[in-house]
Amino acid sequence: MQIYLDTANLDEIREAASWGILSGVTTNPSLIAREKGADFKTTIAEIANLVDGPISAETISLDAPGMVQEGVEYAAWHPNVIIKIPSTIEGLKAVSELSRQNIRTNVTLCFNPTQALLAARAGAFIISPFVGRIDDTGVDGMQLIREIVTIYRQDPEITTKVLSASIRHPRHIVDSAIAGADIATCPFKVLQLSMKHPLTDRGIEQFLADWRSRSE
Ligand code: E4P
Repeated sequence: MQIYLDTANLDEIREAASWGILSGVTTNPSLIAREKGADFKTTIAEIANLVDGPISAETISLDAPGMVQEGVEYAAWHPNVIIKIPSTIEGLKAVSELSRQNIRTNVTLCFNPTQALLAARAGAFIISPFVGRIDDTGVDGMQLIREIVTIYRQDPEITTKVLSASIRHPRHIVDSAIAGADIATCPFKVLQLSMKHPLTDRGIEQFLADWRSRSE
């Protein structure tokens, strides 16, 4: 399973890229807005310079012609830009038109398996089920990943990648991988937490203490 970073913060992207684990980056309008004063196009171009992999940039139009127009514009910014389109009927129309133009899409805000199936049929490159936001409603979000993976794997015509989104903690990463997701997009904090274990810290301290106390 590949790891993407879910942020528009360049410092976080630079740092995570230096770990050698990043295969792509996802942004959304909220994440872009969080980076006060940053220009959208410049931010996406800078991310593309830092990470050699798919960079998702989300449309804000509600109608298919508007989404397509935005998608064509964003796709011209860099060959790695993937157009994020919401899981709506207008979104399906936009996905099929963009895919006809060989522009890759990431269908976002997916909350049920039928949205995922139709997005794949429309030609989505990536589907993004939002695990954490489903968990927040008291329903098991990971079950959606399992169902989509099962549906996609049974259909040889479907090549759409399953991207586990709205990741809230390291266990979501583990369960996404076990469920067969192709990608998990993670906030920077969750990636940091993923490498933390008190026994690792204690082990390092003990090794260093023993090393310092050795008799030459
Ligand atoms: C994915 O591409 C989305 O941008 C993101 O995972 C949403 O996560 P959130 O529910 O924490 O906002």
